[in-house]
Amino acid sequence: MKNIEFHRFEKIPATIVNSSLDGCQQIASEICTLIKERNLTQSPTVLGLATGSTPTGIYRELIRIHKEEGLSFSNVITFNLDEYYNITSSHPESYNLFMQEQLFDHLDIPTKNINIPDGTVERTATFAYCQDYENRILDAGGIDIQVLGIGRTGHIGFNEPGSSAQSRTRLVHLDSLTKKDAARDFLGEENVPRYALTMGVGTILDSERIYLLAWGRSKASILALAVEGEPSEALPASLLQSHPNIEILADQAAASELTRLKRPWLVRHVDWTSSLIRSAVSWLSANSAKPILKLLDDDYTENGLADLLTQHGPAYDLNIRIFNEIQHTLTGWPGGKTKSSDERRPERAEPHPKRSLILAPEPFDDVIGMGGTIHRLVDQGHEVIVAYLTSGNLAVPDADASKAAELVVDLAELSDDCETEEVRLAKSVLKELGEKADFATDSPNVRSIKGLIRRGEAKIACEICGLSGSKVRFLSLPFYERGKYRQFKLSGDDTDLLKGLFEEIQPHQLYFTGALSEPSTVQANCYQSMRRALLDLSDSPWIQNCYMWQYREASQEWDIQEIDMAVPLSPTELTNKIQGIYQHQTQRRQAPTSDRASNDIWRQAEECDRRLAETYDNLGLAEYEAIEGFKRYSLI
Ligand code: F6R
Repeated sequence: MKNIEFHRFEKIPATIVNSSLDGCQQIASEICTLIKERNLTQSPTVLGLATGSTPTGIYRELIRIHKEEGLSFSNVITFNLDEYYNITSSHPESYNLFMQEQLFDHLDIPTKNINIPDGTVERTATFAYCQDYENRILDAGGIDIQVLGIGRTGHIGFNEPGSSAQSRTRLVHLDSLTKKDAARDFLGEENVPRYALTMGVGTILDSERIYLLAWGRSKASILALAVEGEPSEALPASLLQSHPNIEILADQAAASELTRLKRPWLVRHVDWTSSLIRSAVSWLSANSAKPILKLLDDDYTENGLADLLTQHGPAYDLNIRIFNEIQHTLTGWPGGKTKSSDERRPERAEPHPKRSLILAPEPFDDVIGMGGTIHRLVDQGHEVIVAYLTSGNLAVPDADASKAAELVVDLAELSDDCETEEVRLAKSVLKELGEKADFATDSPNVRSIKGLIRRGEAKIACEICGLSGSKVRFLSLPFYERGKYRQFKLSGDDTDLLKGLFEEIQPHQLYFTGALSEPSTVQANCYQSMRRALLDLSDSPWIQNCYMWQYREASQEWDIQEIDMAVPLSPTELTNKIQGIYQHQTQRRQAPTSDRASNDIWRQAEECDRRLAETYDNLGLAEYEAIEGFKRYSLI
């Protein structure tokens, strides 16, 4: 039986799954059970499908079941939620093409049973077209199972904030955050279509059964609002609260902002672990706008923490204990302070100097997450090696590659040496880019010049962080070179390259990121291959002596109870870090727009580090300019 208290704040049933893979397999199995049942009577199964990263695991599993277990999809009828407006079905980023490649090409589903909005309908005909789409759903008998993802605006389908619960299939304008999220796929925000055709919220609510899936930390806050907040048009996913037959499946990272995970003491009896106590006390301090040391017994009891007080109080003792604990996360010595007691420090004093290996999934993850700490480690005499796991070449605009190729050709002309291999390569790159159709895939030559540009940027950024070129490695993991955004597949080669690196360096400290990322991202794939490599090597003696530290991802912030090591930055160190990030010029998208945040990755990093310092300050600890936070990681 469901513990009702436990779900007290939740207005949509939500299940937390072990991994996105488990969640996708579960949904695929529900879908297949229904198809099997309907196939017995030759009646159709009507599926409502989504695109994007979230459901791809379901599609892989459906294909597997079709191929390995022989399940026929010939009676299945599908309706996709949406399509960008004004792009053809052969456009590489069209949802039509996505669905063909990810699912339909691999099943025995008849083409006539597949319905995806057509992004090329004449503007004046869209109203009639959308009505017809609705009619087709009705004619098919309505949607049996609707699969949904959730956007960071809280959109479902492309129903952006402001969509009503009654809305039907229509042409909509995309929110600027949605366009920002799609910018990578479209090689720049300016290329993202402004409009889309989407089923309405009302259309979705008419489905018999709905599954909304959410993976990764970036979905956590919007998911919690949709599940626990008041239903509102300002957050379309919250309108699903009225559906009688809906379930949310979320992984731990996406569910992390739900009250039952974030503040479990409000919904059930808890065992007060030290991390939970830290979390409760820091929450209480923020909630009552008082520094920790000023919290009173009454503050605890009036805010649902009487039990904590009974077990670990009085407030005076608790306050001091947690204040000290948080205080001890702060250190200016991320590599440990040699010849000092390390009893209360996050890192061991010895060995000194340490070999610190920093893994950056894409060039610049390192400097965004821990540019200040890299500088500290170098300054304090540690041997710091930064390994860039992927080349990052997919994120380089063509214009930058052309500029670089032109420079090679111009230089050769200056020196009258125009027949070299490099010049031939540069010329072929210029020719290819000159003739390149919109969104065409780059040849290996173009990708390699783009990768070299990012190498150059990364090396300068590292120098600014105090690291010389000889300490910088570029692994170019094959999964990235073979793949494209949202469609990466890891292989044994990726793990082998990482194993080689680990065995060669045998670090005392390993810094990495990506554990909380949405599973299709470069960061999540890098984390997975790192984890596989470490597990394969788990018997190696060096691993037993290696402290592993997670640094934050570009778009992520730590909660105070997650932080095991907090490295403060002075104003000068922060400026230096921002300079480092600034060197990644190809990642500064376009000229400034009115939406400042869209192109200011360095400013976002700065604000994030400042916010963490502010959090420490508000808790009553020292007031620093900025702080980089780290979470200790254990392989098991
Ligand atoms: C896609 C769709 C969107 C996505 C949402 C999440 O057809 O309708 O609502 O589900 O934007 O996208 P991902 O899964 O890429 O995070």
